[in-house]
Amino acid sequence: MNITQRVLSGIRATGRLHLGNYLGAVKGMLELSNSGKYETLYMVADAHTLTTPYNVEELRKNRREVIVDYLAAGLDPDKSILFQQSEIAEHFELAFYFSSVTTIAKMQHLPTFKDKVKQYPNHATLALLNYPTLMAADILIYKASLVPVGIDQEPHIEAAREIARRMNQDYGTDFPEPRRFATKGGYVPSLTGEGKMSKSVGGSFVNLTDDLESIRKKVRGVPTATTAGGVMSEGVKTLFTFLELLEPSTVSAFKKQFEEGSLKFVELKDKVAEAMYSELKPLQEKRKQLEANQAYVDRVIREGAEKAREIAQQTLREVKEKMGLA
Ligand code: ADP
Ligand code: TRP
Repeated sequence: MNITQRVLSGIRATGRLHLGNYLGAVKGMLELSNSGKYETLYMVADAHTLTTPYNVEELRKNRREVIVDYLAAGLDPDKSILFQQSEIAEHFELAFYFSSVTTIAKMQHLPTFKDKVKQYPNHATLALLNYPTLMAADILIYKASLVPVGIDQEPHIEAAREIARRMNQDYGTDFPEPRRFATKGGYVPSLTGEGKMSKSVGGSFVNLTDDLESIRKKVRGVPTATTAGGVMSEGVKTLFTFLELLEPSTVSAFKKQFEEGSLKFVELKDKVAEAMYSELKPLQEKRKQLEANQAYVDRVIREGAEKAREIAQQTLREVKEKMGLA
């Protein structure tokens, strides 16, 4: 029997999307959706937002804005199921069942858990510890085998694989072991020249809604101090990474200038800024149309939940039966 593979991905509703989210995650979602080979489900992980300190009104706004960003990026509700995680209560129920095959020690050792505890020492909550079991439930409740996300999510996907294996071994379920689907932008660097672009690091990101002027300003701020012996500094490497991702045909000319010592950094920076803007301009135009059509967005969200819920309920019925709860 030829069963279509499923794809699931999500982004937390912690703020507006940036270029790193777009190149690392949304581009992969688009590619898999447009391939026509998979059944694709993309959600906003609004409940995962509760795992770190947050503002209630901002969450209320952002859980919708992420869906609008998906639509603006070109995700098509006729091809993909777009929905809000918290609308599908089955995720939370499955996460609880999964927590019964997951040890506390295992969760405490995940690098993502340790990082967040360091970042918010007074917020080491059970919800944070449970982050990976809920994420495993998000993926496995749809029996998805492919997950388009950035490289930083690999430990969570690994945890989901382990949970799938344990469930299959102990209860005879048929969960797939999900894999990460990588894009070439799986690690988009920060504009600070240090680490990855992230919404929690001020000055590191370009928002999908930034205009050319603000992008230019941000990119001009990338540190390009020259290092001894013609070695490329991190900031310059960052600029070249962006060029390679967004306008690869221009890379070799700039590289040559760099090697000859004739490169004007401001020219490289402005080229990068323009390349970013031309990537984002169509999204911004689409977003304007969507903002004028709130009823359409409401309908997408409502219909997405209905479709997702149907699949989720089916899986949950199977799991409860296998675990002795039905
Ligand atoms: P942030 O780190 O900005 O809070 P999230 O953790 O919400 O971003 O990530 C949402 C999605 O975007 C995930 O799939 C993540 O892997 C991806 N992502 C985030 N930052 C980057 C980046 N700098 N490069 C590539 N992918 C990224
Ligand atoms: N952990 C992901 C992030 O920080 C968000 C997420 C929650 C997710 N559940 C998911 C991603 C399921 C993929 C699949 O971005």
